[in-house]
This record gives sequence, C-alpha cells and structure tokens, in this order.
Amino acid sequence: MKDTYKTLFEPYTLPNGVELKNRIIMAPMTNYSSDDEGFVTEEELAYYRERSAGTGTVITAVAYITPGGKGFPGEISAHSDEMIPSLRKLAATIKGEGAKAILQIFHAGRMAPPELLPDGQPVSASAVKANRPGLVEPRELTEEEIETIIQEFGDATRRAIEAGFDGVEIHGANTYLIQQFFSPHSNCRTDKWGGTTIPRRAAFPLAVIDRVNAAAEEHARDPFIIGYRLSPEEIEEPGITMEDTLQLVDTLAKQKLDYLHVSVQDFWGGSIRDKEDERSRVVLIQERVGDKLPVIGVGSIHTPDDAVKALETGVPLVALGRELIMEPKWVQKVQVGEEDTIRTTLRPDNQEELVVPDNLWSRILSVKGWFPVEEGE
Ligand SMILES: Cc1cc2nc3c(=O)[nH]c(=O)nc-3n(C[C@H](O)[C@H](O)[C@H](O)COP(=O)(O)O)c2cc1C
Repeated sequence: MKDTYKTLFEPYTLPNGVELKNRIIMAPMTNYSSDDEGFVTEEELAYYRERSAGTGTVITAVAYITPGGKGFPGEISAHSDEMIPSLRKLAATIKGEGAKAILQIFHAGRMAPPELLPDGQPVSASAVKANRPGLVEPRELTEEEIETIIQEFGDATRRAIEAGFDGVEIHGANTYLIQQFFSPHSNCRTDKWGGTTIPRRAAFPLAVIDRVNAAAEEHARDPFIIGYRLSPEEIEEPGITMEDTLQLVDTLAKQKLDYLHVSVQDFWGGSIRDKEDERSRVVLIQERVGDKLPVIGVGSIHTPDDAVKALETGVPLVALGRELIMEPKWVQKVQVGEEDTIRTTLRPDNQEELVVPDNLWSRILSVKGWFPVEEGE
C-alpha cells in the first residue's frame, strides 16, 4: 500500500468506545430488492456480502419503521417483530465479513409514493405537497400520531439490537419525515412540534434521538452506535438554509450521538441555494462541530487520493456510495496497491460480476447521469 493511503486504514474509536477498523464506510444505498413485505432477499444478502469485507462499517439501505412511512418498492422493513429474523440475516452477513453493521431507519413522510402505503395517504408535519412529480398532498399528523411515530423509531431500534446490528443511523436527511419537521417548507405547525424558530422545528428530530437512545439503553448489552444523517440545505423557498443547519448541528453536538453524517452529492460542493457560495458544506459543518462529534463526509469521493484529501479537512470518516457499487473491492485494491484498477465506470453487462440485485441494476441503467455508464455491447 502507498504510504499516503495509510491514514485511511487507521482505526477510529467512536464516542461510545466502539472501534471501527478503518475510516471507510459504505454509504446507505437503497437497492429496491427486499420482497413486497420488506423481508431481505438472497440477492440483497449477496450484494452486501460482496461489499462488506473491506470497509470498516456498512450502513444499510434505509428501512421503514412503519408501513405508513414506506418510501420505496423493495425497501427493507423494520416495522414489526416479524422482521427480526430477516434483519438478523442482514446484520450477520455484514458482520460475517468483519464490518460493523448499522441499520438506517426512517419514515418517508410526504415523499412516500401513495401506492406503497396501506391507505394510500402520505403524512407529514403539515399538509404541504413536495414539489416533485408523482407525489400527493400529505395529511397533517395529529399530535398523537407524532408520539406513535417517535415510539416506532424506538421500536425499530430495539429490533435492530435484537437482530444483532451494531447501531442505527437516524435518517434525518434527503427530504424525508425527520427533515420535513425541521424544514420551514413542510412544517407550518404552531403546536410544540413546529414554529418559526430552530429549536421548535428541531423538536421532532430531538425526540426521535431521545427515544432511540432510550431503546438502546434499555435493550443493548454492548455499546450501540447511534448516528444521525442530515442534508445541509433545501432548494425550496422557504427551505432549510445553511445557517439553520449550523444551529441544528450545535444542538446535535450536545446529544448522545456517535456521529453526524452529512448527506451531499459532492463532498467539495458549495451551496445549492446560493451558487456564489462555493464553500464545501461538509467542511463548514466539520469546522462548526470540531471534535464534539465525529463527522462522516460523503459525495463523489472516487479515488483514495480524494478520500485522503477529505480526511485532511479534519473529517475523521468518509463514506463511499456509488463507488462501492461500481467497485466492491475498492478498499482491498487500495490496501494491496492496486488502486489503478479500481473501476470508475459501468458497462451494462457488468451486473453479475459486480453482484448487483436486478432491481437496483435496472434503476442504475435507467436513471440518466446517476452513474457513469459506458455503451455496452
Ligand atoms: C443507489 C443509491 C441509493 C441510495 N439510497 C440512499 C438511502 O437509502 N439512504 C440515504 O441516506 N442515502 C441514499 N443514497 C445517497 C448515498 O448514501 C450518498 O450520499 C450519495 O450517493 C453520494 O455519495 P457517492 O458519491 O459516494 O455515491 C443513495 C445513493 C445511491 C447511489
């Protein structure tokens, strides 16, 4: 291995004392391959088995905590105790390759496609439709329903513990329910779950964090990792601004969390609200958090040089998403000095070799510009 890459392979100890064997994490990626009831399938397990040996930690595709919060076809479910054996297979597959296994959990809120929901009716903080095609106006949640959803985050955490996961990542990013409560676009409530100030709009995310912690304290025998993922900005007007996020980050840094995961497409990318502000959102958050909470940086970290450069900003951990789909052995190749052979494009005939489930593969090929796909034979 090249000397310059050694920093990628230094172990890292999280605030709860759990040691990660290196600095590279598999980013959470939905693969559309669980069955209709949310049970993990063999092809999904094969996909994780192929990718878990190199990285120190694998964050799974997002799992829904309640049927009313399902966001994708073929999504993993953590919504009932019946799912625990399925979750156990997933955790065992990842851990069997030597990585820590973290289950990402969420409620899709107003982003849920109606046809996936038991009653066809998405819910959210307020009855404000997202500006995306194919979605419908959500129904505003009652206070009682909000309490239930918070409890369901706790219940899903207990299931993750019983299934043998090392931790959960609370998905507070990518416009889903937790973010919807923090956003002035989707949260117009005037009760204790909303309002014009940051602390009021942070009430729901903080309640979820508290309940997840309570579940871990009650049920986990070993230290349990609890991470939080956020998106720094929203394009909407009104929408989450960087200043809002930096205030939220100050609050998150005081919570019992093991890391903060900044969800962006490009680690070095600037503001999506102000094109003139080109400062990296991840770096701004890292500077704000300092050493109060470990930050995971992600987004277009294609090469080991990119990963080293990201760590040099002070971020202790980096996550790889598309890179690990295109090159399941990314980490091992760096380890043995074969980084020049890391695959950075796909051909339509690579699916079998890369062990990618059918549904994920057809999405990859059908969404233009998502992955660099070469013309196939
Ligand atoms: C196929 C695919 C599925 C994704 N699903 C999720 C998801 O379930 N949860 C999540 O937080 N982010 C999800 N993401 C975003 C990634 O975690 C990551 O932030 C993004 O791809 C940028 O990193 P990359 O440039 O290394 O791919 C997904 C990305 C891809 C490519």
